[in-house]
Amino acid sequence: MRIAIPKGRLQDNTLALFAAAGYDVPTEGDLRTRKLVFTRGGIEWIFVKDCDVPVYVDHGAADAGIAGFDQILEHDCGAFQALDLPFGRCRMMLIAAPGAPPLQKIATKYPRITRQYLEERGLHADIVPLGGSVELAAVLALTTHVVDLVETGETVRVHKLEMQDLVAEISPRLIICRNAYRTQTEKVRELIARLEEARNECSVASR
Ligand code: PRP
Repeated sequence: MRIAIPKGRLQDNTLALFAAAGYDVPTEGDLRTRKLVFTRGGIEWIFVKDCDVPVYVDHGAADAGIAGFDQILEHDCGAFQALDLPFGRCRMMLIAAPGAPPLQKIATKYPRITRQYLEERGLHADIVPLGGSVELAAVLALTTHVVDLVETGETVRVHKLEMQDLVAEISPRLIICRNAYRTQTEKVRELIARLEEARNECSVASR
């Protein structure tokens, strides 16, 4: 079985969850190498950029993975969403500078979700795709608004921006390739059960 681990913000909590579920996860020493694939405990662990996890799992290049709901939505990922995880939760928000003009242009790393948000509300705006540091677009008036993730709220606060509307609640999820579910049903069920138990134990322990 091949499992995709998101590099970046979700990586440490993701590995801790698999470890709590009894999986032999790659060590810190492994991760200090530049390798992206490790085989431990009969599992092939692959480390990919967080936005690419839904792509690997949807196309069957990984059997399962942990992906943020933002990336699942943005990629229109059809993989089975088996579990909602308690860490890394945040909100996708429509944000603007105080006194910004009405909605005209939106900068975002999430053009697909933003288009859907506008369509659902019968709103019109140009979408300006950016790769990161999206809040800067509102600060410098590159666009009237931005759609981006808010976790602690610190980025919005330090740039003196205002949150105007909730676009989506975001949480990381365990996603399963539909073909893997059909062909490796027992292994996949065991994976879901073990992670669910570890998740529930972690939630109880952190109360
Ligand atoms: C994310 C997000 C916001 C920020 C929100 O950016 O896009 O910019 O974190 O977090 P906060 O509410 O806790 O301040 P990230 O650091 O991943 O980098 P990026 O802007 O380059 O995507």
